[in-house]
Amino acid sequence: MSASDLDLASRTGLPESIAYLRRRFPAAEWRASPRYGQLARRWQHVHEGLRGEGGSLQVLTEAFANGQRPPEAFRREFTTLLGSHLNHLQLHHQMEDQFYFPRFRSLDERMVAGFDLLERDHEQIHHQLEQSAMAATRLLESLNSDREAQKVSTESFAARAAKLLALLDRHLSDEEDLVIPALLEHGEEPFD
Ligand SMILES: [Fe+2]
Ligand SMILES: [Fe+2]
Repeated sequence: MSASDLDLASRTGLPESIAYLRRRFPAAEWRASPRYGQLARRWQHVHEGLRGEGGSLQVLTEAFANGQRPPEAFRREFTTLLGSHLNHLQLHHQMEDQFYFPRFRSLDERMVAGFDLLERDHEQIHHQLEQSAMAATRLLESLNSDREAQKVSTESFAARAAKLLALLDRHLSDEEDLVIPALLEHGEEPFD
């Protein structure tokens, strides 16, 4: 498998060689397992929250594009939602990079390739996040301009946000494919 097959923007999942515990712990059985604990639950809950925030941003942007939100109401909702989404995402990745991923790598050397890959994903997501934030700034600035300028900047933000969400969706699923089976196999004590 070539490096480009594993690139976040183009891959469709993780190969068995990286998600080597997935066959033993299929996703459909995670939550019913007596070993599915607090940390696994919290992890999936945070991911659900991130997916939800990304989706809400898309819905809100679409509503504005369709004229269903006046600019001032849109500005308020958009600023709050975008701020908390970018903040949650950055904090979550920071905690994973600094605290959790090193611990997963130390559980078994076969984990190293997968968690290195997830860390590279974070860099790609961060780059896209910066692009989205810049597009969001231009969109907010355009709220003081005419409708045509607003249309252009709304479309540009929507395209950036869609890219970010696509990368994020892929990353979150693949991360769960590594993290949850690892927690079921090794238990949650190493993370206390
Ligand atoms: Fe992550
Ligand atoms: Fe995560």
